[in-house]
Amino acid sequence: MARKLNLRIWRGDSKNGELKDVQVDVNEGEVVLDVIHRVQATQMGDLAVRWNCKAGKCGSCSMEINGKPRLACMTQVASFDENETITVTPLRAFPVIKDLVTDVSFNYKKAMEIPAYEPPKDLAPGEARMEQVDVERSQEFRKCIECFLCQNTCHVIRDHEENKKSFAGPRFFIRIAELDMHPLDILKNRKRTAQEEHGLGMCNITKCCTEVCPEHIRITDNAIIPMKERVVDIKYDPSRMFAGLLKREKRD
Ligand code: SF4
Ligand code: SF4
Ligand code: FES
Repeated sequence: MARKLNLRIWRGDSKNGELKDVQVDVNEGEVVLDVIHRVQATQMGDLAVRWNCKAGKCGSCSMEINGKPRLACMTQVASFDENETITVTPLRAFPVIKDLVTDVSFNYKKAMEIPAYEPPKDLAPGEARMEQVDVERSQEFRKCIECFLCQNTCHVIRDHEENKKSFAGPRFFIRIAELDMHPLDILKNRKRTAQEEHGLGMCNITKCCTEVCPEHIRITDNAIIPMKERVVDIKYDPSRMFAGLLKREKRD
């Protein structure tokens, strides 16, 4: 049975914006994206909202719902109190294009900065072989739907535009970890570049990214922390330190 829902929607563009209150019908079992679409169809024909699959798989409908980064197509209206006003606002970490649609191209730029998997030079097409255990190790990271909710949540960039240049963000730390775990990848310095070029050291393992991930990827525990530990191991490896001392002595 339909009931009325109080919805507050952010409307605006890159320059100005404000929250607008609307009342909209909601039916049993509907998600927040359903009611946004109903508002679009009946009251605000020019309301901009990005979506695609309506099944939690394309990562397009990311927005903030009552201040929490979420997928609108996977957020049940029934999960809120009946009298509660549901407020929908665009992702805060990225520039607004219009209404609920943000410009997430920061993420595509970061993706391009990470070198792709590079197989051994002498491996002919079809010859690559991996142990099942290696396939499974990084399987979790390949579930990423690129919704960028983790990027939006991460405090390193959420309110710090100045950090974006030197920080790739949690989505790309799992990408680097995935490549780092690939037994055939010949680029062996992935952890070091994560630290030196992609800002791994700026992450202080608050785990906020893990909390919002709709795919339940254990971003911090399974990707970030192991890479950080390895970076420290490499830096303080006594044999490397000794080799460094010898080099310095030779120079002196
Ligand atoms: S754990 Fe690191 S990457 Fe994740 S939200 Fe916290 S600071 Fe950002
Ligand atoms: S890691 Fe999770 S939260 Fe981050 S982009 Fe991928 S699916 Fe979204
Ligand atoms: S519309 Fe595809 S994840 Fe929501």
